[in-house]
Amino acid sequence: MIANLRHLTGRLAVQRGQLQQQVRSASYLIDQPEYSFLKDLGLERDNPGVYSGHWQGRGQSITSYDPGTGQPIASVRQGTVQELHQTIGLTVEAYRQWRQVPAPVRGEIVRQIGDELRKYKEPLGKLVSLEVGKIYSEGQGEVQEFIDICDYAVGLSRIYSGQLINSERAQHTILEAWRPLGLVGVISAYNFPNAVFGWNAAIALVTGNGVLWKGAPSTPLVSVATTRIVAEVLQRNHLPAVVSLCQGGTDVGAALVADQRVNLVSFTGSCQTGRDVGVEVQRRFGKVILELGGNNALIIDESANIKMALDAALFGCIGTSGQRCTTTRRIIVHEKLHDSFVEALTAKYAQLLPRIGHQLELQTLVGPVHSKQNVDSYKETIEEAKLLGGTVAFGGRVLERAGHYVEPTIITGLPHDAPVVHRETFAPIVYVLKARNVDEAVAWNNEVEQGLSSAIFTENIGQAFKWIGAQGSDCGIVNINTTTNGAEIGGAFGGEKATGGGRESGSDAWKQYCKRATITVNHSGELACAQGVVFNVE
Ligand code: UN1
Repeated sequence: MIANLRHLTGRLAVQRGQLQQQVRSASYLIDQPEYSFLKDLGLERDNPGVYSGHWQGRGQSITSYDPGTGQPIASVRQGTVQELHQTIGLTVEAYRQWRQVPAPVRGEIVRQIGDELRKYKEPLGKLVSLEVGKIYSEGQGEVQEFIDICDYAVGLSRIYSGQLINSERAQHTILEAWRPLGLVGVISAYNFPNAVFGWNAAIALVTGNGVLWKGAPSTPLVSVATTRIVAEVLQRNHLPAVVSLCQGGTDVGAALVADQRVNLVSFTGSCQTGRDVGVEVQRRFGKVILELGGNNALIIDESANIKMALDAALFGCIGTSGQRCTTTRRIIVHEKLHDSFVEALTAKYAQLLPRIGHQLELQTLVGPVHSKQNVDSYKETIEEAKLLGGTVAFGGRVLERAGHYVEPTIITGLPHDAPVVHRETFAPIVYVLKARNVDEAVAWNNEVEQGLSSAIFTENIGQAFKWIGAQGSDCGIVNINTTTNGAEIGGAFGGEKATGGGRESGSDAWKQYCKRATITVNHSGELACAQGVVFNVE
């Protein structure tokens, strides 16, 4: 009897477990018809998060949530440190084959990746929106940035080149050539889960490198869907997995950073973690590209076109719900314009309130922030700003609804050097500061530890040129009459000081993915030393 009862309770427990499992997975958004675009990307309820020619994932299973509703989307099985090590080994092997492929042929593969992305732009962009919380057009725009950099990289593959340098010795020629580094490790952040990988991968691939990616733990579905698209192109061309993926937590990240076989680590994230990554990679004499925090200022000069400046402030401060590295965090206004500017800006913010909503609803302009952590730091920052004497001129509240929604917020009346003003909070909060003149505004622009982006609104040509000169902004991005955010791929992207000094995307950023060989060729038939040194025994 007792044995029977035990048997029965045991069976019941198993059935209950199975039921719970079913309820859990049945509530995944991926199973609902309006989310069928996830299946178009090849995603399933439970996805392996490691790719090195085949898919696997023996680590922790992570559920990805929609920040707009708090509902689970689907899950991804992360990799273990051991799987990371295997993946590194396989990608290095693939690289050895890839480096022998002529650069324009590598460009042709990247062209196909761009075309494949064009095909999947709609569903992939929607997934970016869904998983990050950014609005529909920004999700589409992010995939567009990846497509744009593919186009750039295709052209680059035919023209990137070294130079020929005059030698001081007769019948000698000095050449400079750019060779691949080997394996490039890309660690990307949740706010640009697709494009940051794209900028790195497209350039690294045409210059002949292998790429190993670890995406942010909270946007694993974008990592898997993007890698599937790239892998399909490689397989179709009978190429080995020269692009690999290992989703994982801090253990996997730390192992990637420490591994001698990863020749370059391109890291996007906080200044704090970036500093550790930089030191760790330097310890083993590896190379790094660091894209860390920003504290980007928009300066409004007396002569500014105010209508344009207001529009720039709106997108700069609130776009992506304040979660770009390039988001406008400080507006430094000439004292004569300060009060009227704040008034006009708050009026614009008020117009946006009905446009707060779920990121995939087309009329939404302000989506949720990514996670509870962002909401918490939003609240803490506003409390701290108030304690320091700041006034909340607009917003300041967390919205009472499912998902992570906060009001876009304007804070006035703080000293330019208040600790909270000097800190980057990844939320839609902007501090408006009153300056006596442009020189003071530029000094405040430069006094923070970060140095990513900056912009001035001015119609005064003298001020404009001073701003872009040596006494002007000390940032990597120095704009005039446009936003601090939303840079195009053609220029080099990145910043100075605590932003880390790295450059990605256009211009000559490709050089960072290469090693430079200086080659002296003696075609004289006699040995001659440079600098007139005589060294022989005749
Ligand atoms: C980031 O926030 O990490 O300039 C990158 C911009 C985008 C890139 C942002 N093109 O805002």
